[in-house]
Amino acid sequence: MASILEAGVQVGDTHMAARELFGSAQLQERIRVLADEIAGDYAERGSVHTVTVLNGSLHFSSALRLALAEANADLGATMTSDTIHLASYHGTGSTGEVKKISDLTHSVEGKHVLVIEDIIDTGKTLSVLVAELLAQRPASLAVAALLRKPEKLAVPAEELGKTVYVGFDIGPEFVIGYGLDYDGLYRDLSAIYALASVS
Ligand code: XMP
Ligand code: MG
Repeated sequence: MASILEAGVQVGDTHMAARELFGSAQLQERIRVLADEIAGDYAERGSVHTVTVLNGSLHFSSALRLALAEANADLGATMTSDTIHLASYHGTGSTGEVKKISDLTHSVEGKHVLVIEDIIDTGKTLSVLVAELLAQRPASLAVAALLRKPEKLAVPAEELGKTVYVGFDIGPEFVIGYGLDYDGLYRDLSAIYALASVS
């Protein structure tokens, strides 16, 4: 995606440079390793029910679920999946208020739930979702997040669930690509880029 790097991205009145953080091959490889680890942990539970948080997690979820099914064929044959659409971001900042655009189709009661999230920023979105899912009394609950911004975490870590699988920890910068957007754009780039002001 040399063109994005060259041209940069206009964010409101600010022109920002886009720096590649993770290329497509690097993302695929990390997701494969993550899937091996998760498949190992779920083998003894015997099943997994994924809850994908739309829209940002679309590509990560697809890649992770296919890799899970490849890592463990029995898990792949019994795996079930649902989606929930939440929104908390406007532009490049979290509003702190989590809106539900569309809900789950099935209750997670009694299921071994794996929440699939694109990024943990302040953690507010995930803490709201985790509380809501735990109220339905799943058999277990874990989270897989492709990215996490540890410096921006603003909720107690316990609120994010006991088990959190993370692809990569990153700095506080705003990122785009591989599902992550700026105002609806850049979701379908196969790499992830960090945006920085050009001074
Ligand atoms: P919180 O702060 O609730 O944010 O953890 C989580 C949700 O906000 C979105 N988000 C981002 N989207 N680039 C994006 O394109 C980012 O750097 C970013 N940080 C947070 C994302 O939807 C996530 O689920
Ligand atoms: Mg999201």
